[in-house]
Amino acid sequence: MDIPARDALLDGLDLRASGKGLGAEIIGVDLRRIDDAAFEALHLAWLDHLVLLVRNQTLNDAELIAFSRRFGDLDLAPIQETGRRFVEGLPELYVVSNVMEKGEPIGSLGHGEAVWHTDMSYVEVPPKASLLFALETPAAGGNTSFVNMYAVYDALPDMLKRRIASLRVKHDGTYNSGGFVRQGVTPSEDPREAPGALHPLVYTHPETGRAALYLGRRRNAYIDGLELAESEALLNQLWDHVDQSGFVWTHAWRPGDLVIWDNRCTMHRRDAFDAATRRILHRTQVKGERRPA
Ligand code: OGA
Ligand code: MN
Repeated sequence: MDIPARDALLDGLDLRASGKGLGAEIIGVDLRRIDDAAFEALHLAWLDHLVLLVRNQTLNDAELIAFSRRFGDLDLAPIQETGRRFVEGLPELYVVSNVMEKGEPIGSLGHGEAVWHTDMSYVEVPPKASLLFALETPAAGGNTSFVNMYAVYDALPDMLKRRIASLRVKHDGTYNSGGFVRQGVTPSEDPREAPGALHPLVYTHPETGRAALYLGRRRNAYIDGLELAESEALLNQLWDHVDQSGFVWTHAWRPGDLVIWDNRCTMHRRDAFDAATRRILHRTQVKGERRPA
């Protein structure tokens, strides 16, 4: 698309950037009814800002799924920690919740911290986007933070960029970000043995052409071909750059918030919250494109 056409599309959006290096709020839209031009503008803004927030939405599950499909085909949600599907008949839907019904959690991740991660990077072709919609949120706590992994990559020292240029990292499939063991997995604490998928440490985003550091999650990660101690040291060094990154935007949820993140160039984490409060969010995940070997 040429620059004037792009600018004209983006002009139609009421957008407020967070000022934190990623993240923007889109104001005054009803996602159930946006037309193709408005969706295209939103999509462009999403590629630019990596994470979009749209507040005050009323989306039932079918509407959340229908809107999510505008980004592409959906992936099925991972199975719940209890081994169950979250919502019978809606396999695309992932539920994040601490709420218990009949002695069982209705969703995943509990009420504790969820550590930095990208969604489902332990599979060969991870989703390109996740859409998370808030139904019930506690008055305080449970904020979700996002980090810009293009910026983290750009800020690495040149020597480190050269060192990781052709390395691959295994993204662990044992634990989810809440620290719970995934359904059907026998946990192993040896990162070399743990199940997972190998991905290039430096990922070239297929739509923007920009390079991002692609770490997934820290626990049980392993850099293919290195001695374990060497892999641990290099991973710690890379994660230090994430922890020191200034490119973090934190979102405090209200019911009706939809947050859409680019899962290829961001990671996210969640703060803990009071177990006695209720937090329910519904998520979809959009299929990614096959990554270059
Ligand atoms: C997710 C996730 C964190 C949160 O839905 O992928 O990590 O804020 N959620 O609950
Ligand atoms: Mn997640």
